[in-house]
Amino acid sequence: MSELTVLLVGVGGYGTGYVREMLDHGAERGATLAGVVDPYAATSRFYDELVATGVRFFDTVEAFYAQNTADLAVISTPIQFHAHQAVYCLTHGSHVLCEKPAAATVEDVERMMAARDETGKTLAIGFQWCYDPAMLALKADVDAGLLGRPLAMRSIVLWPRPISYYKRGLGWAGKKRDASGAAIFDNVASNATAHYIENMLWLTGQGYGGVDVKDMAVDTLRANDIEMFDTIVMDARLENGARMFFVASHATGPEGWQNPAFEYEFENAVVRYGALGENGDRLIAAFRDGTVKDYGVSSTGGCDHKLETAIALARGGDAALPCPAEAAIRHTRAMAMLREKRPEAEVFPADAVREDDGMVWVPGLKDRLVHCYENWAML
Ligand SMILES: NC(=O)c1ccc[n+]([C@@H]2O[C@H](COP(=O)([O-])OP(=O)(O)OC[C@H]3O[C@@H](n4cnc5c(N)ncnc54)[C@H](O)[C@@H]3O)[C@@H](O)[C@H]2O)c1
Repeated sequence: MSELTVLLVGVGGYGTGYVREMLDHGAERGATLAGVVDPYAATSRFYDELVATGVRFFDTVEAFYAQNTADLAVISTPIQFHAHQAVYCLTHGSHVLCEKPAAATVEDVERMMAARDETGKTLAIGFQWCYDPAMLALKADVDAGLLGRPLAMRSIVLWPRPISYYKRGLGWAGKKRDASGAAIFDNVASNATAHYIENMLWLTGQGYGGVDVKDMAVDTLRANDIEMFDTIVMDARLENGARMFFVASHATGPEGWQNPAFEYEFENAVVRYGALGENGDRLIAAFRDGTVKDYGVSSTGGCDHKLETAIALARGGDAALPCPAEAAIRHTRAMAMLREKRPEAEVFPADAVREDDGMVWVPGLKDRLVHCYENWAML
């Protein structure tokens, strides 16, 4: 197996997962570090281990490619940098695995796709659920028509986040644009819980290309002092006729956890993941004829499968790419539609909001959102 070189762009935050993967499993995958691009690399939890490998550090992709090349670039930087960095890496000879969301705007994702097409390189987007073996097995059954047409899908995830979440790194979280005017549009649905919208668009689309939202009603609200929103209830229609209902919040407070749960109704089966009040991680389809198919534990986290796939593709293998930009742009388009429908989030009334232990939250919000989920109701 010839040695494959990997450039890591962004090695703090979520990028630490890719650092860990490369340090722990790079050798067995025949992959070595070509370099690290991160102007604040020293703040990475694994900086010392990276230094110990002898890898070279750069502040920009421009500085790296001035004298180096890489077979694969893995981009795990704040959203506003994705398009520029992905296009730069592609046009300088690298295949790219870019973290989700693909970018902040549809135009940015289209630029990335154009660079991919011009260079003939691979552009993989890091919605990891698309790379998960159990989810892929379900997807194969959906594509084979075993479940029939998708009818109505609902999904909920309540992940309380402290104020420090919004202040981390460059302070880009919750912002519409950065100081240079670059689009970010970071919010609970575009970032942390994006997977659970993307999953519905991906699973019920054609092959790995996904399906678009046709129309939506949406409530967006904020308790935190941010430019976008930390709470959403969305009731959408997809181009394939299915209903997509989505509930998420970062403002439900210390006791307000609900790990991802969904219920997808198809003509022939109902697929469930987790449940209200539970922390389930199995993907199970109950068919109308009484049979049950357990697809197994389905992980919504982790970098392993996507990095493995990106490495296989960079080697020129014929591995399928389960999350191409064609799929991820469906989520970006949904976010653009959402901003059109709700240019500004509603603000929770001051007397409904509490701040303690470094968290801003709304007492009782979890119950209200669970009610929305159970009743397919807007907030
Ligand atoms: N797949 C997932 O489950 C998942 C989870 C969390 C975050 N993410 C995604 O990962 C990306 C990064 O998010 P985060 O929460 O880790 O952000 P973060 O701000 O915590 O970390 C970003 C990292 O990028 C570095 N960085 C900043 N500017 C840079 C630049 N110009 N060039 C190179 N590096 C730069 C920072 O120093 C830091 O190390 C986002 O796209 C986010 O949506 C994905």
